[in-house]
Amino acid sequence: SRAFTLAVIPGDGIGPEVVAEAEKILDAATAGSGIRFEKTRFSLGAGRFLDTGDTLTDDDLASIKAHDAILLGAVGGVPGDPRLKDANIERGLLLKLRFELDHYVNLRPSKLYPGAPGPLADPGEIDFVVVREGTEGPYVGNGGSIRKGTAHEVANETSVNTAYGIERVVRYAFALAERRGSKLTLVHKTNVLVHAGGMWQRIVDAVATEHPDVAVDYLHVDAATIFLVTNPSRFDVIVTDNLFGDILTDLAGAVTGGIGLAASGNINPDGAFPSMFEPVHGSAPDIAGQQKADPTAAILSVSLLLDHLGLHDEAQRVTRAVEDDIEARDGTARETSVIGDAILERLRA
Ligand code: NAD
Ligand code: IPM
Ligand code: MN
Repeated sequence: SRAFTLAVIPGDGIGPEVVAEAEKILDAATAGSGIRFEKTRFSLGAGRFLDTGDTLTDDDLASIKAHDAILLGAVGGVPGDPRLKDANIERGLLLKLRFELDHYVNLRPSKLYPGAPGPLADPGEIDFVVVREGTEGPYVGNGGSIRKGTAHEVANETSVNTAYGIERVVRYAFALAERRGSKLTLVHKTNVLVHAGGMWQRIVDAVATEHPDVAVDYLHVDAATIFLVTNPSRFDVIVTDNLFGDILTDLAGAVTGGIGLAASGNINPDGAFPSMFEPVHGSAPDIAGQQKADPTAAILSVSLLLDHLGLHDEAQRVTRAVEDDIEARDGTARETSVIGDAILERLRA
């Protein structure tokens, strides 16, 4: 019998609704196997901030760090809510976790499952993984403004890129491409962002010499958005900067059946810290509390979590149950818990 500790952060909006379904699936996937998840629930997000004024305390962080893995729903309030102006939930909670736990690989697989309602008329086969850098780039918060609120305001948001940070994520992406027997595409904007882009390109070129079996190409990020829509089959492994990866993976979700299907893992490959699994989507205040959210992304995030912990059979059973459910979908709207129950039934079958 094996026990894992799991920190569960349901969060805000649809977060708790989709996490409830993800937990059902996690429990069922491991039932009777001798594998146990000892869960600790953390009340974090915009709701907690409005109640207590806390975003993420040192105690919360220390406690979360002591777990084997983290399952997160979504955090954040209604964009523009004045009561949350000083909270900065996204930076103070989500990004703080990614940075403190050194989640330098933000793994975002995109697959068009048979039956998924993609918007493309002739999508071909879509099956790629975005390896988004998770701890650097424009996300680090290195910036500031002067003369704030005046007509002469200047605001800087400096992208930080280190050779160490790029090399480790590029190495991860090459190893993944090699395992998948596939190719690797660097996406950046080297024609304009010459300093950071130049370093990304040089590091990719250098690591490529150690992986002669992996074909390597390059696309500017603007062109990459074209091909994600016109020829998504051309992609296998994409490695890219934190912000480009954020934008590309919402688009990737949209072309593979919707953001409600897109899963992700914030991975610390060294295992020094727990990795965190969450849907790509946010708290969706527009549909929160109505059982309208698709929990599939959260459930597929459970599959990534199981895989990360070495529970490959369990992960595959979850993915297969999701695939079966997607294949049977006919476009009829189903409530969040109805989708969860349908996937649960297929998992148990
Ligand atoms: P969002 O992803 O929450 O919503 C965008 C659109 O997608 C909305 O129309 C929403 O209804 C729809 N949608 C999202 N998830 C869905 C699901 N599972 N099923 C069906 N439809 C779904 O993005 P947003 O509106 O830009 O952000 C809302 C809040 O969430 C903000 O506070 C933002 O900062 C936060 N956010 C958090 C995370 C996270 O916790 N990882 C990620 C993205 C955004
Ligand atoms: C995501 C989200 C986050 C990001 C925000 C909420 C900080 O959009 O997980 O994709 O930009 O990484
Ligand atoms: Mn995003």
